[in-house]
Amino acid sequence: MNFKKICVLGLGYIGLPTASTFATHGVKVLGVDINTHIVETLQRGEIHIHEPGLRDTVKAALASGNFNVSTKPEEADAFLIAVPTPFLDDQVGEYNGQKYKLADMRAVTSAAEAIVPFLRKGNLVVLESTSPPRTTLELVAPILARSGLEAGRDFHLAYSPERVLPGQILRELIENARVIGGVNPDSAQAGADLYSIFVKGEIVKTDATTAEMVKLMENTYRDVNIAIANEFSRLADKFGVDVWEAISIANRHPRVKILSPGPGVGGHCISVDPWFFVETAPELTPLIYNSRQVNDAQPHFVVELVKRALGELKGKKIAALGLAYKPDVDDLRESPATEVVHLLQKEGAQVKAWEPFKPDANMPGINMARNLEDALKDAEAIVLLVRHTDFISLSPLKVREMTRARVVVDTVNTWNPNEWMKADFSVERLGVRK
Ligand SMILES: NC(=O)c1ccc[n+]([C@@H]2O[C@H](COP(=O)([O-])OP(=O)(O)OC[C@H]3O[C@@H](n4cnc5c(N)ncnc54)[C@H](O)[C@@H]3O)[C@@H](O)[C@H]2O)c1
Repeated sequence: MNFKKICVLGLGYIGLPTASTFATHGVKVLGVDINTHIVETLQRGEIHIHEPGLRDTVKAALASGNFNVSTKPEEADAFLIAVPTPFLDDQVGEYNGQKYKLADMRAVTSAAEAIVPFLRKGNLVVLESTSPPRTTLELVAPILARSGLEAGRDFHLAYSPERVLPGQILRELIENARVIGGVNPDSAQAGADLYSIFVKGEIVKTDATTAEMVKLMENTYRDVNIAIANEFSRLADKFGVDVWEAISIANRHPRVKILSPGPGVGGHCISVDPWFFVETAPELTPLIYNSRQVNDAQPHFVVELVKRALGELKGKKIAALGLAYKPDVDDLRESPATEVVHLLQKEGAQVKAWEPFKPDANMPGINMARNLEDALKDAEAIVLLVRHTDFISLSPLKVREMTRARVVVDTVNTWNPNEWMKADFSVERLGVRK
C-alpha cells in the first residue's frame, strides 16, 4: 500500500514522536489532539512533553512542511490512534470478593468515532493504545462500521502496540521490533507497509488479538517477576538473609534470572497493563492478580522497615530521596515512592521529599524539598526510594555534614552499608535483616 497522508490521533508521548517521525520520512501527517493547548503549543513550534531529541524532530517535521496539527481529523490514507487508556477513577470490578481496576476506554471510543466521517474504502486504521484483549475486534471495529464500511473487507484494521522506553523513544521507535496484528492478513500487511516507512527493526505480522495479548504479556511478565523478587525480599528479611547476595548467587544458575526487589512497581505501563487481563478474565488470572497485590503492598513493607529503624514514626522528620517510578526519569505517575511518602505521613511522620528530576513537581499532600540540603537539613532519617545516578554517588561523609540524621533506609540496594556505618550511620536495607 502507498501512504501519502496519515492522520495521528493523540499527540502525547507516543503519538507525537510517531507523527513527527513519519513526517520527517516524507509522509504528509496531520496530528490531531483534542487538547487545544497542545495543538496551539505545537503550532507555535514548541513541544509540551520532555523527551530527548523530540524538539528537534518536531521542528524538522514542521520545517519540512509535512506536519500539521489540528483538533479535528481529515481524510487520509491511514489513521493511527495513540490516545490514553488509564483506569476508571470511579469504578472497580469485583470477582469472588476481590476488587480489580477497570480500563477507561473512552478516549479510544471517541477517537474511533472521530474517524468515522473521514473513513474511505481502502484506508488503514491502526490502534496503538495499550488495550484489553479483543478491543480492536469488539470495540473499534463496530464503531468504524458506522461508516457503512466493514473492517477487513472495505478497509484495513490493525493493532500495533508501542514498546518504546521513555528517554529513548525516538531511537527505539525506529530500531525496536514491531508487532502488527491485523483483523485479516491483508490488514497486517497494510500495517507492515506503513511502519516499514521508518521501522528498521523486525516487523512481525500476526492477528489483532495476538498483538494485543503480546503487549499485555510483556508487561505482565515483568510485573509477576518483580512480585516474586519482592516476596523473596520479605522472606530474606524473615530468615536473616541478604536478598541481594542470595539473588546474585541464584542468578549464576544458567536458567535463572531473578529481577531486583524494591519499594514497589509503578509507572503507567507495568503497574497498569496486568489489570487489563484481570478485568477481562478474573477467573483465569489469580497469579496476575496476586502479583499486583504483592507489588502494591510493597510500600507497606518499606514503612515497616522505617519503623524498625526509627521506632514510633509520629512526629519524626524524614528525608525521602527520589519520587520517580524508576531511576533517572522525571515521571512520577503511579510511583511507589510517592505511596511510601503518603504512608509514612499517615503514621505521623513529617516527610520532606527531594526529586532531582522534577524539583518543581506539585504533588498534592507531599512537602517537596527545594534541594538536597533542604531535604536533609532537619531530618532524623534518610529513606532512599529511587536509584537515581545522583544518589548513587552521594558520599556518606558529605551527607553527615548536611544533616543530624544518623539513620538511613536503603530500599534499592544503592549504598555500601559499610561505608555509611563507618560514617556513623545505622543502616537498614530492604531484604536484609541484620
Ligand atoms: N508513554 C509510553 O511510554 C507508552 C509506552 C507504551 C505504550 N503506551 C500506550 O500508548 C497510549 C498513549 O500513551 P501516551 O503516553 O502517549 O499518552 P499521553 O497522555 O502522553 O498522550 C495522549 C494524548 O491523546 C490525547 N487525546 C485524548 N483523547 C483523544 C481523542 N479522542 N482524540 C485525539 N486525541 C486525544 C490527549 O489529549 C493526549 O495529548 C496509551 O495506551 C499508553 O498506555 C505508552
